[in-house]
Amino acid sequence: MKHKLKMLAGMAVVAFASALPAKAETVSMFCSATDYELCEKAVAKWSEKTGNEVKLNRMPQNLDDAIPIYQQLFAAQSSDIDVLYIDVIWLGMFKDHLLDVTSKIPEDEVKAHFASATDAARLDGKLLAMPFYIDTGLMFYRKDLLEKYGKEPPKTWDEMTATAKEIQDAERKAGNPDMWGYAWQGRSYEGLTCDALEWIASAGGGTIISDDGEVTINSPVTEAALTRARGWIGTISPEGVLNYDEENSRALFESGNAVFHRNWPYVWGTSQAEGGKLVGKVGVSALPLGAEGQKSSGSLGTAYLGVSKYSEKQELAADLLRYMVGLEDQKMRAIEGGYNPTVAALYEDADVLAKIPFLGMAKTAFEESVARPSAATGKNYNRISRTFYRAVHDIISGKDDVAKELADLERRLQRDVKAGE
Ligand code: GLC
Repeated sequence: MKHKLKMLAGMAVVAFASALPAKAETVSMFCSATDYELCEKAVAKWSEKTGNEVKLNRMPQNLDDAIPIYQQLFAAQSSDIDVLYIDVIWLGMFKDHLLDVTSKIPEDEVKAHFASATDAARLDGKLLAMPFYIDTGLMFYRKDLLEKYGKEPPKTWDEMTATAKEIQDAERKAGNPDMWGYAWQGRSYEGLTCDALEWIASAGGGTIISDDGEVTINSPVTEAALTRARGWIGTISPEGVLNYDEENSRALFESGNAVFHRNWPYVWGTSQAEGGKLVGKVGVSALPLGAEGQKSSGSLGTAYLGVSKYSEKQELAADLLRYMVGLEDQKMRAIEGGYNPTVAALYEDADVLAKIPFLGMAKTAFEESVARPSAATGKNYNRISRTFYRAVHDIISGKDDVAKELADLERRLQRDVKAGE
C-alpha cells in the first residue's frame, strides 16, 4: 500500500533500533495498551538477539475499539502489521486473516503451553495464534480491612455483598467518606459481558448461548443474578461504576477507596508495584459462587499473538511471535507485571511464585473459568455480545423490570443467532 492506513496514523509508534545495524528488517506489531511497557522491553530483547527492528503500535485502551481497526486492515489486505494481538473472543471472528503457524513453531514449544489455551487457537485444523497470557476474572480485596473486621474472603456473591457493605459503612464512620464496597466494570462494553457472565455462570445459569446455539438467558437464575448486581449500584458501588472499565475500576481500588475489586490478574502487578498505596494490603481469590455446588466462573480472557496472513515478512514475524510467547518473555512478564503465563512450567518456577504467590489458585481459577460463547457463534460473536451487554447495562441502570428486559433480550439474541446462520 502506498500510504499507511489512516487509522494507524494517530497511534503511538515506536521503532526499536537494534544494536546490530546492517540489513536489519523491520516488523510491525500491535501491543495492548495495558502491558505496553512490557512489550517494549520484550521487543528490545528480540531486536538485540536478531538484529532486526520492531515497530510497535499501541492498541486502543478499550479492546472493542480495535475491532474496526483490524477489520479495515484485513479488508485492505494490508501488510502494515505483521504480528497481531488477539483477544480470545476474536479467534473465530478473524480466523480467515491469520496465518497458520503450525509449521513455524517447533512442536515442543507449542506443547510447553497449556493444551486448552493452544487448542482454542486451532480452528479448521490450523494453529492460528499462540497464547500470550491468561486472563481469568479474579477477586482482589483489601486483606488489611478484612482482617480488621474479622472477615474471610467471601465464598458467594451474597456474602461479598454483605461484607462489602459492612466494611464500607464502618470505614465511612471511621473517617473515610469516600469508601466503597465494590469496584467492577459496568460500562456498556465487552468487559460487562465478562462481569455479567461470571454472575450468571457461577449460579448455574449458563453462558448466554449454549454450545449448540440455544439462547439460555431468560431464566430465574439470570434474573436473580442481574437483580443482585443492580442492587449494588449506589449501595456498595458508586453510580460511576456504570461507566467504569478495567482501568477506572482499578483506579478506585488502588486509591484505597474500595474493599473488593473484580479484575484480571494484571492488577496484582499494578497494585503491588513499588510506592503504591496498597503494597502488602491486597489479597486475591477466585470469584465468588452464585449458588452452592456451582464453580467459581471467572471469565476466560486469554490473550494471543498471531501473524497476519497479509504480512510480507511472515518468517520474521513468526520468529518474533515465538520469542514473545516463549518461556523467557512470559517469565519476565509474570515477574514484572504479574501476568499469568500460559507456559505450564512457569507455574513451578520459584522466581515467578515468589512474585505471584497466588499462582496455584489462579491456575485453578483458569481451569474453572467460563468461556464466552465465541466458539459457538464465531464471526457473529461481536453482535451477540453487544446485544447482551447493552441489555445488561440497561438492567443494572434500573431502566425497566428485569424479567421484562430478559424476555426482550432473549428475543433479540434469538434474532442475532438467526442473522448469523
Ligand atoms: C481483557 C480480557 C479480554 C476481554 C477484555 C474485556 O482484556 O483479556 O478477553 O475481552 O478484557 O474488557
